[in-house]
Amino acid sequence: MTYETAYAAWKADPVAFWEEAAKGIDWFEPATSVFNADAGVYGRWFDGAQCNTCFNAVDRHVEAGHGDRLALVYDSPVTDTVSRFTFAELQAEVSALAHVLRGLGVEKGDRVVIYMSMVPQAVFAMLACARLGAIHSVVFGGFAANELATRIDDAAPKAIVSTSCGIEPGRIVSYKPLLDEAIEIARAKPNACLILQREVHPCELTEGRDHDYADLVGAAKAAGQGTECVPVAATDPLYILYTSGTTGQPKGVVRDTGGHMVALKWTMEKHYGLKSGEVFWAASDVGWVVGHSYICYGPLLHGCTTVMYEGKPVGTPDAGAFWRVIQDHKVAALFTAPTAFRAIKKEDPKGELIAKYDLKDFRTLFLAGERSDPATIEWAQEKLDRLVVDHWWQTETGWAMSGNPVGLGAFPIKLGSPGKPMPGYDIHVLDDEGNPVVPGTLGNIVCKLPLPPSGFPTLWNAPERFLSSYMEEFPGYYATSDAGIIDDDGYVFIMARTDDIINVAGHRLSTGAMEEVIAAHPDIAECAVVGKVDALKGQMPLGFYVTNDGANRASDELEKELVQLVRNKIGAVAAFKTAVPVLRLPKTRSGKVLRGTMQKIADGADYKQPAAIDDPAILTEITDALNTRDLIG
Ligand code: COA
Ligand code: AMP
Repeated sequence: MTYETAYAAWKADPVAFWEEAAKGIDWFEPATSVFNADAGVYGRWFDGAQCNTCFNAVDRHVEAGHGDRLALVYDSPVTDTVSRFTFAELQAEVSALAHVLRGLGVEKGDRVVIYMSMVPQAVFAMLACARLGAIHSVVFGGFAANELATRIDDAAPKAIVSTSCGIEPGRIVSYKPLLDEAIEIARAKPNACLILQREVHPCELTEGRDHDYADLVGAAKAAGQGTECVPVAATDPLYILYTSGTTGQPKGVVRDTGGHMVALKWTMEKHYGLKSGEVFWAASDVGWVVGHSYICYGPLLHGCTTVMYEGKPVGTPDAGAFWRVIQDHKVAALFTAPTAFRAIKKEDPKGELIAKYDLKDFRTLFLAGERSDPATIEWAQEKLDRLVVDHWWQTETGWAMSGNPVGLGAFPIKLGSPGKPMPGYDIHVLDDEGNPVVPGTLGNIVCKLPLPPSGFPTLWNAPERFLSSYMEEFPGYYATSDAGIIDDDGYVFIMARTDDIINVAGHRLSTGAMEEVIAAHPDIAECAVVGKVDALKGQMPLGFYVTNDGANRASDELEKELVQLVRNKIGAVAAFKTAVPVLRLPKTRSGKVLRGTMQKIADGADYKQPAAIDDPAILTEITDALNTRDLIG
C-alpha cells in the first residue's frame, strides 16, 4: 500500500478503512456500529464497543509474553538519572497507583488533574486514570497557579497528582506553593492530592489533604494490591486537555477512548514507520498534546519503547544532548519541534557534535508544533543525513492532519510543506465567504466533517463553544483557525493562525489571555499583544500599552511589573518579556485593534495601510515607539 492507495481507500469507504485499523486494538466488546453519524457533528466512533486504553497500552503486551520488553526509558540529565521500566514493571506501577487513586475516591468518570514535571510517574498517573476509566487532565508545569486554578475549576477533579517541584536548567520550580495557591483560588476543591517528593526539593505535605506518592504506592505494591482495567465505552472520555483559545478561559478538548486508540495505533506503523519493539522518542512534555499522543499513548499502544526526557536540546549539558539520547537508547524515530533544532543549530552550526555519537538505529526525524522553516529542515537533512518529515496537527485532532507516512513509503518532500492530507482528513482551503479558492491561493484551512477517530467530540463543559469556535464559521467543515495553501500537487502549506493564538517555542499561547492580564494592571488603559517573529522561538509575544491619564509611570518600571504580572498569572512559559508604551492603539473605525498591522510593523515586513483605519498617523507612532527600543525586524 502507498500513501495514494491508502488515502483513496479511506476516501472510498471511511468506515471500512477505520474498521480495518480497529483490528490493531483489543476490544472487550466490539462496536455495534463503527461510525454512528446521527450523533451530532462528531458522530460516535466505535459506538457500542467496550474497551480500556491502559489494557491496550500495557496489559495486553504482558499477556502476549512481552512483559520483559522495555516500555519506558526515563532519561533526565537535570538529575543525572536514567531508569528503565519493562511492560511488566509498568503494569505493576500503574496497577498499584490505580489502586491508590481508587482509595482516594477516584472512580470511573471522575476527573484527576495531573500537574507534574517530566517524570515517569506522570505517565503512570495518566495510565492509572485510564485503567480506572477516570478522566485525566494534565496541566503543563510551566503554567502558574492562576492557570492551574482555571483548569481545576473547569474539570472539578476528585484528586490531583503532583510533584514537589520541576527542574529547569539552573532553577528549581517549586510546584507545591503553586498547587496550594491554585487550590485556594479554585472554587472546586479536590478531595485529595498525591504528591511525588523529588529528592532535590521535597515539600511539606498539607495535613488531611496531601498524601505521599511513594508511601502509598509502595505500600500497595508491598501488599500486592492492584486493580484490573475497568471496561469503558469507546465513546467515553479518556482525557481533557486544555489548550489556548481566544479568551483567558482555555478550551477543554475532550478525547474519546476507542477512536483515539485506533488512530494512534495506525499512525505508529503507517505514519512513523515503527515496528513493535522499536524505540520512539517524542522530545516534548506530557503537558502538551504531543506528549499525550507520543510520549504516553501511541508508542505504548504499539508495543514500542517510549523515551521520556527531562532536559533541553541545549545546555543539558550541550547541543549534543539529543544525539546522546538517540545513541544511548537506540532511538529509531525522534519527534520534536523545529525550535529545538534552531536552538541546536545556533550552538553547533556545523553539527560537529553529531559525529561524536553512534546514530545507527536512527531513521527519521519528525517535526511539528509550529511552521518548519526550510533552513532548519535543510540543516537537519544535511547534518543528520536522514529523512526529515514535517507534519501538521493540533491539540484538537490529537494526531497529524497532514504529513508524510513513512510506513507507507514516503513521497518526495517539498520544503516548507507539512506534507499531504492524512487518511481521515479531507482538507480544503476556503475564502472568508466559504468558497473554495484555486490551488495555490492562501485561505482558511478547513476539514470536511466528520472528523476521523481521535478528533474531539466536544469541549468539556462548553458544547456551545465547541460549535461556535469550530463548526459554525464554515458549515459542514471543521475550521482549523490556520491559514494556508494547498498547491497543484496536493501539498499543504500552513502559513499563520487566523485567530490570536501565537506559537512560542512550539508552545501554543493566547495573546488574548496575555492582554487580559495586562489590562488588569491599575495603570493600563488599553493594550495589545502580538506575536513578533523570533529567530529561535519562531514567535515571541510583544506587548503595546496605553497608560491611564495621569498614571505618569516610568516605562522601564512599568514594563517590569507587566512582565512579572504575566509570569505570575499565566506562567514562565508565556515568555512575555517586552512591553512598549504607545500613545494610542491603531484601530478601525468600528474600534477593532489592528494587531496584524502592528505585528507587520514590528517584524519590519511590508504592510498596507488598512482601508478602514481610523487615524493613519497612529501607525507612525507605533513605528516610532518600536524604533526607540530598536525593536523592529
Ligand atoms: N516548568 C516550569 N517552567 C518551565 C517549564 C516547565 N515544565 N518549561 C519551560 N519553563 C520555563 C523556562 O524555564 C523559561 O523560563 P525563563 O523565562 O525563566 O527562562 C520559560 O518557561 C520559557 O520556556 P521556553 O520558551 O521553552 O524557553 P527555554 O529557553 O527554556 O527553552 C527551547 C527553549 C527551544 C530549548 C525549548 O522551548 C524546547 O526545547 N522546545 C522544543 C520542544 C518542545 O517543548 N515542544 C513543545 C511541543 S512539541
Ligand atoms: P497545538 O494545539 O499546541 O498542537 O498547536 C497547534 C497549532 O500549531 C496549529 O494550529 C498550527 O498553527 C501550529 N502547527 C502545528 N504543527 C505545525 C506544522 N507542522 N506547520 C505549521 N504550523 C504548525
